[in-house]
Amino acid sequence: MTSYTELGLVNTKELFKKAVSGGYAIPAYNFNNMEQLQSIIQACVETKSPVILQVSNGARKYANQNILKNMAKGATEYAHELGYDIPVVLHLDHGSSFELCKDCIESGFSSVMIDGSHLPYDENVALTKKVCEFAHSQKDYVTVEGELGQLAGVEDDVSSEHSHYTQPSEVVDFVSKTKVDSLAISIGTSHGRMKFKPDQCTKTPDGILIPPPLRFDILEEIEKKLPGFPIVLHGSSSVPIEYVHMIEKYGGKLSDSVGIPEEQLRKAAKSAVCKINIDSDGRLAMTAIMRKVLVEKPEEFDPRNILGPARDELKKLYAHKNQNVLGSAGQA
Ligand code: G3H
Ligand code: 13P
Ligand code: ZN
Repeated sequence: MTSYTELGLVNTKELFKKAVSGGYAIPAYNFNNMEQLQSIIQACVETKSPVILQVSNGARKYANQNILKNMAKGATEYAHELGYDIPVVLHLDHGSSFELCKDCIESGFSSVMIDGSHLPYDENVALTKKVCEFAHSQKDYVTVEGELGQLAGVEDDVSSEHSHYTQPSEVVDFVSKTKVDSLAISIGTSHGRMKFKPDQCTKTPDGILIPPPLRFDILEEIEKKLPGFPIVLHGSSSVPIEYVHMIEKYGGKLSDSVGIPEEQLRKAAKSAVCKINIDSDGRLAMTAIMRKVLVEKPEEFDPRNILGPARDELKKLYAHKNQNVLGSAGQA
């Protein structure tokens, strides 16, 4: 049993309060390996941004939860060594069961998401409430993110017109029954690099897909019903076309890639949206640079010389997000 304070971590409570009143969002970046974590910490220290390190179930399986937990501890020490102690949260992304959330809480996570969004409403309430009761009764309060509505996604064969947007009529009941600390909502974002089908988008003359806009009207209704309550956006990668083109130039195939335009995320960050989840953009940046190095330097076989440049690019990307998209730079 480890409490997150022993690892130098914080929960999301104070961070979200400041982010909502300050009109910015905290970056929630997923990590699975050392290079991703190093670049996140370097970028967030350099831009003086708080950060949420997200671990998915897939990441736990890939990297081992003990290794990830100790990497998060290392991350806080690394920030200190770099000269600036930024607040660091270790968060379970898309927790699928009470047992998984409990396991993470007991092993040192400072925040968990219980994702009951696919369940019938009453079951989502019951599961989320159970996780909150456990998380909130720890010696050190662990924060909980719940979800209402389901993200659209090409993978699920759900189109944006027929996606399960969050119903504003449910949010007050959900938050008051469960006591969640933050709420993930569905307003048109989706996971992965193909956020919309081509026939849902318009096209620029040079064939670049322009996605349908996010449903800011739903966000506004939710904000009216839950004034000042922390809202979370998943599926918020922008899928930069430069990386898609670089990957394709060096042999990859990523047709029909489309993300959420940065201006829309900037607008969301100024509202009650105080946590923005980004994973796919980091994958694209790393893959683009790794492909480039492998093609341009066929004699290279030291992974440090392949992953190192990818890490540097990732750091630039995260610093850009903090400064120009989320507005979290200078808030640590
Ligand atoms: O929301 C999903 C995240 O991008 C994590 O993805 O389950 O492949 O680690 P993953
Ligand atoms: P992206 O796939 O858009 O990066 O979303 C990541 C996410 O929501 C993690 O929970
Ligand atoms: Zn997500």
